[in-house]
Amino acid sequence: VVTGASSGIGRELARQLAASGLAVGLTARRADRLDELAETIRRDGGRVAVATADAADPVATRDALQSLAQALGPIDVLVANAGVAINASALAFDPGAVRRTFEVNLLGVSEAIAAVLPGMLERGRGHLVGVSSLAGYRGLPGSAAYAASKAALSSLLEGLRIELEPRGIAVTTVEPGFVATAMTAGAPFPKPWQWSPERAARYIVRGLERERRLVRFPWPLVAIQRLVSVLPPGIYDRLARRIVPVPPFPDPPRHETLSPPPVQ
Ligand SMILES: NC(=O)c1ccc[n+]([C@@H]2O[C@H](COP(=O)([O-])OP(=O)(O)OC[C@H]3O[C@@H](n4cnc5c(N)ncnc54)[C@H](OP(=O)(O)O)[C@@H]3O)[C@@H](O)[C@H]2O)c1
Repeated sequence: VVTGASSGIGRELARQLAASGLAVGLTARRADRLDELAETIRRDGGRVAVATADAADPVATRDALQSLAQALGPIDVLVANAGVAINASALAFDPGAVRRTFEVNLLGVSEAIAAVLPGMLERGRGHLVGVSSLAGYRGLPGSAAYAASKAALSSLLEGLRIELEPRGIAVTTVEPGFVATAMTAGAPFPKPWQWSPERAARYIVRGLERERRLVRFPWPLVAIQRLVSVLPPGIYDRLARRIVPVPPFPDPPRHETLSPPPVQ
């Protein structure tokens, strides 16, 4: 099963996994996109089923995974790929955007895992895959909630991996750099070494076939991230401000319009 299969990396992953002979379950919110992909896969001789769900809705997520298992059989591989990136300035800080980001990028993944893990444990085999990001290694200006959600996701997957591997369940954390998808189109920051979704999916599928614990790409960005992750905060902050110029976000709240504090 691939979540977030209606576009970008997830769509291409589902297509390539189906081409490799696996029966694939597709889920996301946009039914028309999923149906169109399913049609393509069927035309190429693949086995596929579709179920729509909002990843932020625990009941819908479990129902969707259950219906895919009914259609195709037990879920042996879960690729939790659905994700959102809400770019927002710290000057217009919105806890709702943080909540929404975590609901999809972290809690949505955890609901999907909870729906398939008991069956995997019973069968003594399975493969959990989470699509995190190289963005999770340091705080990111303009994408603070996104980076935090991916840091949490990578940590969650690592913790699960250590316990689940001896039970026959592989856990793979995928940490892409920039991939040319709807998520990054028009994003107000540089995207060095950007890969196409086809190339990214090919690299990920190869990593999944080998049950690698960590699939990260492209290597120049991985090397930079490694270096950046050990920089002291003062140096990192100056560097981050130069590389990610403050984007044209909405105007910051005007403090002079705030009501005066109540008189005690
Ligand atoms: N593109 C990059 O540079 C990059 C880099 C690192 C990591 N990633 C990660 O890769 C994953 C895929 O992103 P992408 O680049 O392929 O972006 P994308 O083209 O925008 O695809 C995002 C997918 O997630 C699904 N999705 C979003 N919100 C959802 C929700 N509430 N419920 C269910 N599905 C939802 C979307 O489907 P619907 O809208 O139909 O629901 C879509 O299929 C994400 O986790 C992203 O964080 C991307």
